[in-house]
Order: sequence, then C-alpha cells, then structure tokens
Amino acid sequence: MNQDELKTLVGQAALQYVVPGEIVGVGTGSTVNKFIDALATMKDRIRGAVSSSNASTERLKALGIPVFDSNEVGQISVYIDGADEIDNQGFMIKGGGAALTREKIVAAQSSQFVCIADESKLVDVLGRFPVPVEVIPMATQRLLRQFAGMGGTARVRLKDGRPLVTDNGQHILDVKGLQISDPLRFESEINQWPGVVTVGVFAHQKAAVCLLGTTGGVKILEF
Ligand code: 5RP
Repeated sequence: MNQDELKTLVGQAALQYVVPGEIVGVGTGSTVNKFIDALATMKDRIRGAVSSSNASTERLKALGIPVFDSNEVGQISVYIDGADEIDNQGFMIKGGGAALTREKIVAAQSSQFVCIADESKLVDVLGRFPVPVEVIPMATQRLLRQFAGMGGTARVRLKDGRPLVTDNGQHILDVKGLQISDPLRFESEINQWPGVVTVGVFAHQKAAVCLLGTTGGVKILEF
C-alpha cells in the first residue's frame, strides 16, 4: 500500500470514534481530507463538525456536513486530526498545513484526540520534522534569534515567494535542528515567548489514541 492508501485506511477507521448524534472536531491536512470524505457517508447520523481551518470547513460544507463555530458548542467528545510526527507517548508535531493554532483550540475543547497517521509519522524523539510556530510578524526577527540561541534554525514559511499568511492573519516559522526530548516543557517555554501565537508541539493537547496506517493494516496505539 502506498502512503495515500494508508491515509485512506486510517481516515475510514476513524469513523468508529465518531459519536452518533454529536458534533465531531475535525483537523486539517491530506489525512483528514480522507476522514472528511468518509464522514460524509454518515453525515445523517451526526449533528455536524467544528473545523480547524478554512480548508477543512470548505470541504465539510461541500459534502453537506454542517459546520459550527467553536463558540456555539460546548465540550466536544472527539477530535480527529493528523500529525507531522507522533512519538510513543502521543506527543506530536503539527502545523505542516499551517492550521496549528485552530487545531490546538479545537483539540483543547475536545475530550479525546484521535490522531490518524501513516506509519512514516511515528518517531522516537520529536524534531526530525521542522517545528512550525505561528507568530505575530512584528516579532519575527527576534524569534529567529531566540530559536538560534537554542540551537535551531528558523525560517519564515513562504508561499509564492512571500510569507505565508495563516487563517488568523499571522506568519509561520519552521524550526529545524531541534531534538525535543521533553515536549511538555518545550511547549510551555516557547508559548511564553512574546510574539508566539502557538508552537506546533502538541504535548498538553496530546493524542489519546493513534490510528497508525501500516502495510499490515491499522495499528491502534493508546497512550
Ligand atoms: C496541519 C497539520 C496536519 O495534521 C499535519 O501537517 C499532517 O498533514 P498530512 O495529513 O497532510 O500529512 O498539522 O496543520
């Protein structure tokens, strides 16, 4: 099976975590797109979704799934999202699709984070994938220096030659060269730097379950 087929497999497997009659939290990315397509097959059995990005919102609506603002709903039972990396404790790096801030908001509003990922995303230590950080543009140059001071190399993410602008109107730094051995501490520390909107380490909002797509089928990891 290729990577795309593994994504389809876990996207479909995630349906078993969707609670009938309720609102489901929906992440962002190519794996989540497979989940959204699968979710359309049971759209008459859910109330709708809270979405973590404009891209997911558009896809959900195009398939006839009602999308609620996060402020319109209370606690959500399940949040389904992908990851750029996940370790064997359920800690993740996310934000490859630039949606990390809204992803963390919806994850924080949800009782259970179900991560869907192909097996290439499983790592021993987080940091092979450059850590995305959403930042206020005014703080960019100082934050580049602060990451350099901790041994990382940060770059502003570009789109069509210009800084990418997130759904929240901010920029993304991608930080290479970090080995994140203590994700809880790392997340807390970076989130305190003035100008950081959200760091793409999900340790306080870690996964409870990971549906990992492998050539042998879906492996369920519980943390
Ligand atoms: C978007 C994310 C995605 O979950 C992450 O980038 C994984 O994406 P994909 O499923 O396309 O590999 O965090 O901000």
